[in-house]
Formats: sequence, structure tokens, C-alpha cells
Amino acid sequence: MRGAIEDKIIDESRQGEALDLPAHLNTQQTKKLYIESYGCQMNFADSEIVASVMLENGFSSTKDLNEADLILVNTCAIRDNAEQRVRNRLDHFNAAKKKNPGLLVGVMGCMAERLKTKLLEEEKVVDIVVGPDAYRELPKLVETAETGQKAVNVFLSREETYADISPIRLDSNGVTAFVSIMRGCDNMCSFCVVPFTRGRERSRNPHSIVAETADLFAKGYKEVTLLGQNVDSYRWQNESGEEVNFAGLLDMVAQVHPDLRVRFSTSHPKDITEEVVLTMKKHDNICNFIHLPVQSGNSRILDKMNRTYDREWYLNRVAMIRSIIPDIAFSTDVICGFCSETEEEHRDTLSLMQEVKFDHAYMFIYSERPGTLAARKYEDDVPEEVKKARLQEVIALQSEHALESNKRDVGKVFKVLIEGVSKKNPNELKGRNDQNKMLVFEGKGHQAGDYVQVKVNSCTSATLLGEIVDTL
Ligand code: SAH
Ligand code: SF4
Ligand code: F3S
Repeated sequence: MRGAIEDKIIDESRQGEALDLPAHLNTQQTKKLYIESYGCQMNFADSEIVASVMLENGFSSTKDLNEADLILVNTCAIRDNAEQRVRNRLDHFNAAKKKNPGLLVGVMGCMAERLKTKLLEEEKVVDIVVGPDAYRELPKLVETAETGQKAVNVFLSREETYADISPIRLDSNGVTAFVSIMRGCDNMCSFCVVPFTRGRERSRNPHSIVAETADLFAKGYKEVTLLGQNVDSYRWQNESGEEVNFAGLLDMVAQVHPDLRVRFSTSHPKDITEEVVLTMKKHDNICNFIHLPVQSGNSRILDKMNRTYDREWYLNRVAMIRSIIPDIAFSTDVICGFCSETEEEHRDTLSLMQEVKFDHAYMFIYSERPGTLAARKYEDDVPEEVKKARLQEVIALQSEHALESNKRDVGKVFKVLIEGVSKKNPNELKGRNDQNKMLVFEGKGHQAGDYVQVKVNSCTSATLLGEIVDTL
């Protein structure tokens, strides 16, 4: 159970799955790319940029390792187990390479950036190492590797946002898509490797974001999720003095079309403003859901984590948001067993969870990351068994809250955007409501991309089960 929850940054089922280009793009090209993605939504969005770059340069995609000329694995470095997972995959690719000696293996993303050339020394199977800001260089790196040399580019940029590259949606349901609005992070939370792997924060031109979103809507997409490590610090300006903050960007994207739902992730408690929440309220199509990672409910630990807010500040932000949008749903991230965390401090996390009653949470054991402030300054002194026990308590409490939250929805009717067929039962459809809860129900001739009204009849802690009452 632990492994599944620890790594559930996004949909666990997509972690490491081979991703394919849409069939109509997959015809004439000769060389074949096999691509797998791990980690957060930003990595998945980046894989779509890379697919676009490679398609322009003579590659099509395959889900069959045996057909591949190039394997790319988009990696995550957030916790040690995320890296371990990739190393296991590299062993597997090594076996494929033995069968096909011409096969090239490239590691991209955060683990590539963290380890740089060390990765070539440690993992002999790797031919190419490419960091998150160097994806435009991939075709050149592949050319170099084709001559038998190792190829590396891990330069981090202060400007790169890939604004002009049109991502190719991989394995898309044709309904929901991620749109990257910024890159990097300037926050330096003491436990976190992201500022080292993704570099300085920079915001993408809002007009290119709106254009990409409008293009998605024209292609039939009905929902976009705007992505950044800290979306509330989005800020873009040009020479003529035009300035757009996150509230302004949300306002622009929401106006693309009233039938296009807008979501975003991740909000930082220190930066989320009333202006953002008022913009959410102003537009019906901006979903009433906020992912607001708390990390800990104890102010001393939060200070040590360098989160720059305390427990009271967090609770105050939640109260501010609820006063403006009473039916808002919250999800969060929690880290268990950070350096020097006492039992009492851990209980502060549980009591904060009791106060907020999150609808959903991602819960992790603290994993020391080399080079971070915490690794350099603090001892990773909470024993593994204690960390695990605390995680179990956090998970148990969260399951209660998720079930309570779902039970409150039984009997209610929600507008649901259909995303496709339910995995468990092919006769049923699935889709999410405004609050990001998954609903499963029988279709009445409906298809992905339709909005329907669904009445909730029962629930589990993960899903609402219902029936269509009236098509919109
Ligand atoms: N930018 C987002 C988080 C990105 S990382 C934010 O600031 O909230 C996603 C989550 O991974 C974090 O919220 C944190 O809960 C977890 N995480 C990050 N580093 C970690 C570490 N060293 N050990 C355990 N969990 C970690
Ligand atoms: Fe990491 Fe903190 Fe930046 Fe999030 S805000 S990516 S946790 S440094
Ligand atoms: Fe992982 Fe990098 Fe995302 S470390 S969580 S893939 S930004």
C-alpha cells in the first residue's frame, strides 16, 4: 500500500507507461521513439514537448520496445524511490539493448539534471543525458550518440519556456490536457530537489498560453490544467509595460470558452491571493478545487522546511478561500518524519488535517535528497519505522476524511465532464465534477467530452457512483 500512495503524484496508472503519438501522426517516419514518463504532471507535459521536437526530426513513436531505435525515459528525482524505479527500468532497457545493439537510451528530466555525467558512469546503458531546459537539443544529441559517443546537455536556462513549441498530446483522452505556464522554482524548500533540477522560475508568455488553450478547445478538448511548481507566483511582463499575474492569466484563459474547464496546480500557501480566488468565483468554468500542499501542521517544522508560512497562516488561507467559495474542495501534500519531527509535532499535522478535512491528499515519507538545504544542515534522524508508522496514521485519517467528504455528496447532482470509459467496468463511463472528484455512471449514448448531470447514489473513499439524470 505504501509504495502506491507514496508515488501517487499523479495518476499512478500513467507512471512509466509507454506513451504513444496519435495514430495519424505515426505513419511515414522511419526511426521509432519509445518514451516513458515518471514523476509529476510537468514531466508528462515535457514529454509532449519532446514528442513534438522528435516528430519534427524524423521520429515516430512505438509502444513496443523491440521496435524502438531510441528509448527516452523522462525521470523524477523528488524521492529516492522515484530514482530507484528508473534504475530498475534502465536494467530492463539494458536487456533490450543486448538484443538490438543499435538501440540508443536517453535519460531526460530531473534525475538527468541532478546526476549529470555521473549518470553515464553509474549506468552504462545510458547514451544520452538531457536536462529539462535542453530538449530543443535532443535531435543533435541523438546524432552525436549515433556516432557512438555519449551525449550530454544539462544546461539550465533563465529564459526557456518552449512557448513556441506545440506539444503533441501523448495517449490523450482527447478531453483533458496539461498546459505548462511556467518553469523552475525559486522557493528553496529545504527538503526539495526541484530548484536544483528545474532551475530558476520563469513565466511563459500569456498570449502563447491562451493560443495553445484555444487550439485545444478547437480540437475538442474540454479541460485544461495550467501547470507550474508555484502558479501563484506567475508573473510576466513585456517591454511595453504589459504585466500579467496569475489572476490575470486565469481570467484570460477562462474567457477562451465557457465550455472549457480550467484547473491549475500547484498553489503555494504563501502566495495564493484573494484576487486569484475572486477570479475563480467570477468564472463558472474555473473549477472549485485547489491543491494547496501543507507539508506539515507544525510551525517549527514548517520553518525548518523553509516553507515561509506557519500553521496559522495556512489555516487562515483556507478560511479566506472558503469564505469566498464555500463549496471549494482542497487537496494537499503531507511529508511524514521530516528531520527532528517529534511525536507531538506529527500530531499537529493530524490535527490540522482534522481542522481542514482535505478531500484528497498525497502523503509521503521524508526522503533526504543530496544537495538540498536539509541534507546539508539537518540530520535525517527520524527512524524509518517511525516515519512509516506516522505515514500510516496520516493515510488512515485521510481515508476517513475522503469517505466523509464523499458521503456528503450522496444525493447531490453534479455537472460532470465525461473523460472516457471506466477502467473497472467497460459498460460504465467516468468523469470528474468541478471539485475534481471522480464519478462513475452508466452512459446513455454519451461519449468522452460530453457534459452530463449525474446524481450520486453511493460512494467509496475514492469514487462517487451515480446515474445520469439529465443531459446538459
Ligand atoms: N511545487 C509543489 C510541490 C512539488 S513536489 C509545492 O510546492 O507544493 C510534490 C510533493 O512532493 C511536495 O509537495 C512534497 O510533499 C513532496 N516532496 C518533495 N520533496 C520531498 C522529499 N525530499 N521527501 C518526501 N517528499 C517530498
Ligand atoms: Fe519544491 Fe518548494 Fe519549489 Fe514546491 S515550492 S517545487 S516544494 S522548492
Ligand atoms: Fe519529480 Fe522533477 Fe516533477 S523531481 S516531481 S519530475 S519537477
